[in-house]
Amino acid sequence: MLLITGGAGFIGSNFVLDWFSQRNEPILNLDKLTYAGNLQSLSSLEYNKNHLFIQGDIGDRTLIRSLLNEHKPRAILNFAAESHVDRSIHGPEDFILTNVNGTFHLLDEVKSYWSDLPADEKEAFRFLHVSTDEVYGSLNKYDPAFSETTAYSPNSPYSASKAASDHLVRAYHHTYGLPTLTTNCSNNYGPLQFPEKLIPLVILYALDGKSLPIYGDGQNIRDWLYVGDHCSAIRTVLDKGQTGEVYNIGGDSEKTNLDVVLTICSILDDLKPAAQPYSELITYVTDRPGHDRRYAIDAHKIESELGWKPAENFESGIKKTVDWYLTNDKWIDNVTSGAYKNWINKNYSKRENV
Ligand code: NAD
Ligand code: DAU
Repeated sequence: MLLITGGAGFIGSNFVLDWFSQRNEPILNLDKLTYAGNLQSLSSLEYNKNHLFIQGDIGDRTLIRSLLNEHKPRAILNFAAESHVDRSIHGPEDFILTNVNGTFHLLDEVKSYWSDLPADEKEAFRFLHVSTDEVYGSLNKYDPAFSETTAYSPNSPYSASKAASDHLVRAYHHTYGLPTLTTNCSNNYGPLQFPEKLIPLVILYALDGKSLPIYGDGQNIRDWLYVGDHCSAIRTVLDKGQTGEVYNIGGDSEKTNLDVVLTICSILDDLKPAAQPYSELITYVTDRPGHDRRYAIDAHKIESELGWKPAENFESGIKKTVDWYLTNDKWIDNVTSGAYKNWINKNYSKRENV
């Protein structure tokens, strides 16, 4: 079986659902269920005996040890993390605790478990660490895209904590021979994404007739990848990746934030017309401190060595995404109640219109 951490979050839950649509191998899903973890995303697996969910922390060594010894996974896929840049600016400590210390504790327990495996299982074992393109820092408009050899230059507490975790994974391979794989992916979007991130936040705000907050001048660029394509890339790296290697994953879809928001507005104008075009809700607000200007991914390595390419382009993926948010009211009502409102107040109330 696979041990997946963070499998109740956005990408993790998409990965688990996607896995069972393709394969029968069981999954042990370990998730702390922070604000970002949501078992409702996995409700279709309620009666699936191949999905075993455990609530727990990747930093809890005793728990990790007993899960490894009891279930004997052939691979670990580490999705668990604090993942939102704005939250890391307001409160970095959780990012250090989970992304740095948590990954370290997990790695160290996995190393002990792996060391005692019989030779053939040891050889076949994999630790796949899911990371981000943000570790490479910020690009100017005409800089070449991030490749696997781009020097690390993280700028936010979030990206610094992910960079630290990547270095630990690298070190556990280099020093102890742990068969690791690291993936660095660009911005994901799609179903089941918590509406603190740009795309779901803008869809839900537009539907509520609220102003759509664009940080700074709206010209920051991200590369966007549909989450289903990230899942297929991770499966490919798990199946065919070379241990000790890093694979960049991207959607070849660089967009300014303003373009992303305008695209969402125009899809909503078609699917759910309001009295005024949704784009009239756009408001420029105080920028994110330290806001990275541009990310871009050179995904040549995963394409040429492992044969992976995204199936969706931004136009097809964003339509599917808007459609999903238009038809999943119950999921949305549940995640936007309670603590979500406190976060929105904390992040947006002091931003002025600019
Ligand atoms: P998310 O915030 O939606 O989900 C994170 C999950 O991890 C949640 O279910 C949460 O409960 C769980 N978790 C947090 N701390 C934990 C702990 N200490 N122990 C166990 N579980 C814990 O994040 P996401 O967007 O799904 O991202 C998943 C991974 O992919 C992260 O490692 C992130 O850095 C990486 N990534 C995300 C993106 C993106 O665009 N979202 C892009 C590239 C890489
Ligand atoms: O690049 C991969 C990363 O992408 C992942 O590692 C992170 O986990 C993920 O959160 C994402 O980080 P970003 O900071 O790029 O994502 P976010 O959706 O928060 O913001 C996308 C862009 O939109 C960014 O330039 C900031 C801007 N933005 C965001 C919000 C929430 C706004 O203009 N307004 C907003 O209200």
